[in-house]
Amino acid sequence: MRNLVDRMLGPNQLPIHSDVSIHEIMERVCGLVGAEAPPGIRIERDYDPSIPLLWGDADRLIQAMLNVVRNAVQALGQRGVITLRSRVQRQYTIGAKRHKLVARLDIVDDGPGIPPDQQEQIFYPMISGRPDGTGLGLSIAQNIVNQHGGLIECASRPGETVFTLLLPLGKPE
Ligand SMILES: Nc1ncnc2c1ncn2[C@@H]1O[C@H](COP(=O)(O)OP(=O)(O)OP(=O)(O)O)[C@@H](O)[C@H]1O
Ligand SMILES: [Mg+2]
Repeated sequence: MRNLVDRMLGPNQLPIHSDVSIHEIMERVCGLVGAEAPPGIRIERDYDPSIPLLWGDADRLIQAMLNVVRNAVQALGQRGVITLRSRVQRQYTIGAKRHKLVARLDIVDDGPGIPPDQQEQIFYPMISGRPDGTGLGLSIAQNIVNQHGGLIECASRPGETVFTLLLPLGKPE
């Protein structure tokens, strides 16, 4: 399954890296989701304006974030609040690598949450809690974040679900 998703992301499609603004990415996602979400869903932004640029593939990062935010919209149904939050984290270790600066992007929703017995599995391909879901959204998002040397995490209880994207800042040496 992991291989399938890797192939769907395309080994021949090379990532296009450049200096990207996290907030431009978040604003793009906000615009796209705002246009398609029901009117009862409010999106709040809480940005740290001091976050430096990130070396990455802007389109893929938009895709990753979009997959997470769309899940939040689907979990909320007709009404609820989604908060997009950005912060800088100093001296943060991802895997075995210690980074001076890491961007921390939280997507928070006040929906029903993910049942504890499903939380372990949601990042696997083909795992879906929705009848019309393909179960690929989070798997693809995780793949993209990993390609950027980052990490995606989830903490969920009824009334508050937080997906966190941790992305190292600065060009790799
Ligand atoms: N914010 C959330 N609140 C509640 N459940 C969630 C949330 N995000 C994800 N989930 C659960 O995790 C499952 C897997 O999500 P994922 O995006 O991988 O697949 P999907 O949304 O079912 O299908 P696809 O994204 O491919 O259309 C969802 O079906 C849903 O049950
Ligand atoms: Mg999804």
